[in-house]
Amino acid sequence: MAARIISIANSKGGVGKTTTCVSLAEAFAASGMRTLVVDLDTQANASLLIFGHNGDEHLFQAINDYSTISDWLLENFSAGEQRRLSDFIITGASDVSFKGKPLPLDLIPSSPRLRKTERELIFDLTKRGYSMEALQGQVGKRLRDDLNLLKAQYDVILFDCPPGISVMTETVLAASNLIIVPTIPDFMSTLGLDLFTGDIMKNLRDREIETLPVVLATRFDGSQHQQVVLGAMRDAANAAETEFAIFKTIVPLKSGFATNPIELGPDPTLQAKWPGDALSIIEQLLQEVREKLA
Ligand SMILES: Nc1ncnc2c1ncn2[C@@H]1O[C@H](COP(=O)(O)OP(=O)(O)OP(=O)(O)O)[C@@H](O)[C@H]1O
Ligand SMILES: [Mg+2]
Repeated sequence: MAARIISIANSKGGVGKTTTCVSLAEAFAASGMRTLVVDLDTQANASLLIFGHNGDEHLFQAINDYSTISDWLLENFSAGEQRRLSDFIITGASDVSFKGKPLPLDLIPSSPRLRKTERELIFDLTKRGYSMEALQGQVGKRLRDDLNLLKAQYDVILFDCPPGISVMTETVLAASNLIIVPTIPDFMSTLGLDLFTGDIMKNLRDREIETLPVVLATRFDGSQHQQVVLGAMRDAANAAETEFAIFKTIVPLKSGFATNPIELGPDPTLQAKWPGDALSIIEQLLQEVREKLA
């Protein structure tokens, strides 16, 4: 069966997108699914978190080898070369050990250069008379084509999206079978939520896609304030005209989720990477995600 595509996105920063993406991807891989993560964020946090202990060396290597998502963008749209997304995959990128072997998880890494690449591309194409829509259209078409080719090789492909909206994010959201929107249930973090999910929904409706983005409450601290906001989020998800659904699983604010590959040392087990009850909460989320994809 063709791979299912999951995007983890929220225009708000620091809400747990990358943590959700990487932990879920590792849980998918551990369950025997052929799993690929595509890092769309110029911060390259997902790439570093997946590479693990020697993350900066691996990332440096990928950047030197012109083997990041930034190079895909640059080569296809600026250098006029044709290179498929599949050329940029790093197989077995994770340093997690699982049942005595490396966890089989593949990655298309990002690069700090991505921000500059996107800007240069927009500048270059507008100079050549293209509109922003035309650029979006071209990148979108190429991304969809490449993604369709990749689907045969995997069971699940996860995209870690940057905060805000980028040229690639919109295309990826529209190509997704499931959009996960991690959200801290507090006043500041939920301010833009309706706007963001409404925006996603408009985009999807325009493309006749019927799927509701699913909010995941993250960094829940159990305070009175967060309980009230969480309750309001659940009510909104259950309302008749809702533009988002919500997971039952709640990710608590706990050090077990703030994993630090440098401190962990090389080749940690999955349990060591997500200590305490973090792993069992991730597995609970995995179960719900599987149900949504079924
Ligand atoms: N449940 C949690 N409990 C405690 N710390 C967490 C939890 N989830 C994430 N963190 C920490 O919070 C910070 C932000 O998380 P993360 O990088 O996953 O968010 P993000 O939405 O991807 O951020 P950005 O918008 O910058 O990409 C990180 O330092 C991470 O380790
Ligand atoms: Mg992130």
